[in-house]
Amino acid sequence: MIGYDAKQRTLTLSTRSTSYQMKIDGTGVLLHTYYGPRLRGGDLSRLICPEDRGFSPNPYEVGLERTWSLDTQPQEYSSSGVGDFRLPSLEADLADGSHIVDLRYVGHTITDGKYALEGLPAFYGEGVAAQTLSVALRDPASGLVVELLYGVLEEYDLITRAVRIRNEGPAPVRLTRVASACLDLPAGEHDLITLGGAYAREREPVRAHLTQGVHSAGSVRGSSSHQQNPFLVLCDRDATEDAGRCWAMALVYSGNFLASAEHTQFHETRLTLGIHPFHFAWTLRPGETFTAPEAALVFSARGLGHMSRLFHRAIRLNLCRGPWKDARRPILINNWEATLFQFDADKLCDIARAAGRVGVELMVMDDGWFGERNDDFTGLGDWNVNQKKLPGGLAPLAERINGLGMQFGLWVEPEMVNENSDLYRAHPDWAFQAPGRPVTRGRYQLVLDLTRPEVKQYVLDNLRATLKSAPIAYVKWDMNRSLTDVWSAALPPERQGEVYHRFVLAVYEILETLHREFPDLLIEGCSGGGGRFDCGMLYYTPQIWCSDNTDAIDRLRIQYGTSLCYPCCAMGAHVSAVPNGLTHRSVPLHTRGVVAAAGTFGYELDLNELTAEELDQVRDQIAAFRTDWELVMRGDYYRLGDPFRAEEPFCAWMHVSPDRSRALVGLVQTARHANPVRPLLRLKGLDPDRDYRVNGRVCGGDELMYAGLALPFLDEYEAVQYHIEAV
Ligand code: DGJ
Repeated sequence: MIGYDAKQRTLTLSTRSTSYQMKIDGTGVLLHTYYGPRLRGGDLSRLICPEDRGFSPNPYEVGLERTWSLDTQPQEYSSSGVGDFRLPSLEADLADGSHIVDLRYVGHTITDGKYALEGLPAFYGEGVAAQTLSVALRDPASGLVVELLYGVLEEYDLITRAVRIRNEGPAPVRLTRVASACLDLPAGEHDLITLGGAYAREREPVRAHLTQGVHSAGSVRGSSSHQQNPFLVLCDRDATEDAGRCWAMALVYSGNFLASAEHTQFHETRLTLGIHPFHFAWTLRPGETFTAPEAALVFSARGLGHMSRLFHRAIRLNLCRGPWKDARRPILINNWEATLFQFDADKLCDIARAAGRVGVELMVMDDGWFGERNDDFTGLGDWNVNQKKLPGGLAPLAERINGLGMQFGLWVEPEMVNENSDLYRAHPDWAFQAPGRPVTRGRYQLVLDLTRPEVKQYVLDNLRATLKSAPIAYVKWDMNRSLTDVWSAALPPERQGEVYHRFVLAVYEILETLHREFPDLLIEGCSGGGGRFDCGMLYYTPQIWCSDNTDAIDRLRIQYGTSLCYPCCAMGAHVSAVPNGLTHRSVPLHTRGVVAAAGTFGYELDLNELTAEELDQVRDQIAAFRTDWELVMRGDYYRLGDPFRAEEPFCAWMHVSPDRSRALVGLVQTARHANPVRPLLRLKGLDPDRDYRVNGRVCGGDELMYAGLALPFLDEYEAVQYHIEAV
């Protein structure tokens, strides 16, 4: 619900449990006055104490009043160059050479339903109560008009923000920084949590006490990256999984981003989130509009666990789209780790046959099916089937797989080209390369300049042709390098700062076209594992390969970190062979199954190499997942242990049905010590007043949550699952 109090000049966004308030100050500056637990009413600007602070300048219109300064006022969208010395939300090169932006309120509208953003992914309001607030601010001298958009998805406690900048002035303007959201919070001692990591170690939570200064996380790799994720949390210093206040923001975007937290001289915090200003400059001619990507905001007064669950639900139901968003995904087998590039149709059918026999539903042919792609030096860009490997093309193979009772899917990497490819030989200029500079290689491949219409068209035509050539139910869309040498022949020198963003827009456009033309196609996102795991991609690809690291013990960490923002139904997770190719560790098959079953679930090995007993186990895993999928996908997710804490010898988690009648607990022993302490596991999310059957025994929900469940002594890397049902 969005309310405007004309007397107080406050705008209040209310969700089920939160309130968010802004106030139109007498100066016209839009102040941010509150974001926290839901309030009954009031004008929270009374919490701002006017004070004459040294070196805090005063706008002209307040006259000789020294207590009013932009330097100290909490703002909804901060200005630049007029007395606020904290992080600006908007920066621009104006026609007169100045960089000043001073935004004042013009008007606002409140409408039912949630706004959409042209060409950009965004949460949508269908199926839930949703409203939109649009506030117009203007910089009178330049004519820049900033439209702040707020979407309120009440039942998810989710507030989205986006920004449109329109040039209503007489001269072109170059935007050099456009935040999607700015959030000024009152003084307090806070921690900042971001998701760091690396290739094969994606989304490791990094938690640090905020001290004075600017702390940031970002990506300048052209994608959201393995190393940082477009997500941040500010929380009370003592916030835990179950208690404490958390303010979290996720950017619905897959390119360069910057997430910053500034702890000010007065211990207040300004959070900003948006496209990274690195190599960003967007020219707005008179009359043109620039739209910044959406940021999704969540406030939880009940710790990090509740915060995550709010994101999970909203992402699953109102960001992901299409028939797959809430449906059980096919249990798949992927040949990559089993064969790498060395396969042909018979080999794939062998793998599929063994998988089909135990209940796998979809066979995915990974990299290596096209051009002369027998290694990673060759073939990217040539999307014609390698006839030596797959005689007759995709259709005969797909039909053979279908004949085994399975669906067929395949891998693509449409954004890339190898120098050793027909495409590159024909169009060397289609890859990003700056004039007069040698090109920078990554995995022996170059990045196609998708901002050029003819390149985008080539990619789209090839994808279309491939998808129409055979019954293809699934696509794994990969992206295996970071962007460098970002320069486009399609744009003049003064507009090169637009290329990074235009590249992301082109990827979105292609994905949107596929979404429209192949509505039943399930697309799994991927970027060398989880290098582009973000809310932007989830709008087009309801599941994303979490990591190339399929070691079940390492996966505990990766899936734990990912779960801070993203739901289990989005996490591509497979059982792979041992010893693991990356860690050389051997983990029992049961444990590998338990860990993969906390995600989309599938296999990444040749089941022909398993013993009869192991195949029986696989059969059981598949049967169990068919029973449990709804809990995993639609249930509330609780983290019961932190795999990053060296002193914790196990990692556990649970999925609880929304009506709290069923739950599934997964637990893996990550370390084994001699004569260990007696292991107890306190469960969460159950109804304390109900009794539950836990693996055959009846216990009270109160007992399970407050006293705990006595665990058996497990060996290192052993796992257990507990199926819990209300009696
Ligand atoms: C990286 C992906 O993450 C892998 O699963 C696999 O698809 C390879 N690329 C193929 O090149």
